[in-house]
Amino acid sequence: MSEMKFVADHMLGKLARWLRLLGYDVIYPDAGKSDDELAKLAGETGRILLTRDKVLAAKARNGLLIKSDDVQAQIDELKEKIGLKIELELDRCSVCNNLIEKVDPEFVMGKVPEKVFANFSEFWYCRHCEKIYWYGSHVEKMRERLRTRVVLEKHLGFGGLPDSELVHALHAEGVEARVLWTQGRRFCVEVFSHNLRWAERLALWHRGFEVLHNGNIEEVLEFAGRMTVSGSFCVRAEHEPELAEQIGAKIHGRVDLKKPENFFFVFRHGKEYFFCRKFWNIDNKGFAGREPRSRPFFMPISLHPKVARAMVNLAEVRDGTVVLDPFCGTGGILIEAGLLGARVLGNDIREDIIAGAGKNLGACGIENFELFCGDVGELSSKVGEVDAIITDPPYGRSTTTKKEPVSSLYRRSFETFATILPEGKRLVIILPSKPEAQIPGFVLKELHQIYVHKSLMRHLCLFERG
Ligand SMILES: C[S@@+](CC[C@H](N)C(=O)[O-])C[C@H]1O[C@@H](n2cnc3c(N)ncnc32)[C@H](O)[C@@H]1O
Ligand SMILES: [Zn+2]
Repeated sequence: MSEMKFVADHMLGKLARWLRLLGYDVIYPDAGKSDDELAKLAGETGRILLTRDKVLAAKARNGLLIKSDDVQAQIDELKEKIGLKIELELDRCSVCNNLIEKVDPEFVMGKVPEKVFANFSEFWYCRHCEKIYWYGSHVEKMRERLRTRVVLEKHLGFGGLPDSELVHALHAEGVEARVLWTQGRRFCVEVFSHNLRWAERLALWHRGFEVLHNGNIEEVLEFAGRMTVSGSFCVRAEHEPELAEQIGAKIHGRVDLKKPENFFFVFRHGKEYFFCRKFWNIDNKGFAGREPRSRPFFMPISLHPKVARAMVNLAEVRDGTVVLDPFCGTGGILIEAGLLGARVLGNDIREDIIAGAGKNLGACGIENFELFCGDVGELSSKVGEVDAIITDPPYGRSTTTKKEPVSSLYRRSFETFATILPEGKRLVIILPSKPEAQIPGFVLKELHQIYVHKSLMRHLCLFERG
């Protein structure tokens, strides 16, 4: 159960009930309470005061202004502002806020509809207000409310790596999802969250659309006719410019084909038309700005930032994760992990390179980092346990290995990694060839072939410590 507790003002009854279904303790006082009383109640009970009233929000020590009047958008606001966790708890009565308890089916016989009794085997009961709960009634409703369908387009030419990146990015953000269909570079995914951070962190995908409606042409046109768009818009339809015009004519709003605030896109999948709104575009400028040659310290050893970011996603890095790159070079991997809020630790055998990595991190606005200079084998004594190791070690070509054969360097490295990576944690590493033998202490979970610069094929491996 969550630690956060709330008082909701009298405008937020619906939100209060939803929060209780999510397991949160929410007091919803009657309308007679004055602002001062609400602020006092929240202060005395250590609760966050949720209110739609600006003045009250400012007055209360723990006031939080809710801007939207739609409960879904309100939950999104809370996710954004205070990191509200959306887990379907079913341990609290949505009516009276008391904890509910699991009861035997016999107990509810005759008290719930026959159909419900026949179809469900688990029931909960509120002693206080005698309400009976079962999964179907609330959890499904909740999931339905949180559901969005999105269509994403991936980069071709990376094999299955983008697919894997997507799965791990969703997982890193704690978002439940399932793939509905795929067609070439397009994936349609059902996502049980309105938080779209998982998309914004992707590197091997171009853009994402939210599905607004799908069906035959008539249905899509009818749907468009009911839409009023605030801000300008433009409609494009794949291979069917006339359809785009038809739809555009139906939507109430201002058309702007050059710089629209809303971009609608229609495409076909099988017999159906999908009418979508673009919600995300990859930040190509951002990635280009972090390319090795764009950074203050350059060496031709560095990975492309998109590959580095994909590795970071495979490691499921999130806010607060401690990431180590034991062969950090110019810092490409550390930068991508740092941008996602990780605390990053880097190491390299060359002092000049470590100094350069520090400059590159600084130029990208990364502050939470620590750099070490020395051989990879010394790391056990320098760093404590880390949450993830992500690295691109030397291949014995253009980087110095002090004449040690790479096979020996890798063996030593894995031995060291085993001492700093706790069980179940991830190691994402690029190797020149497929690991042949079992590596002691590590389980190979995924293997992807990628082309790092030019014609150089490498193996990107995801290991789990275990
Ligand atoms: C392929 S580069 C890493 C490039 C890095 N991903 C980047 O973005 O710049 C490998 C790095 O490992 C370092 N290195 C070589 N032998 C090492 C060792 N024994 N211990 C630690 N670092 C080593 C090299 O100096 C080189 O910077
Ligand atoms: Zn109750």
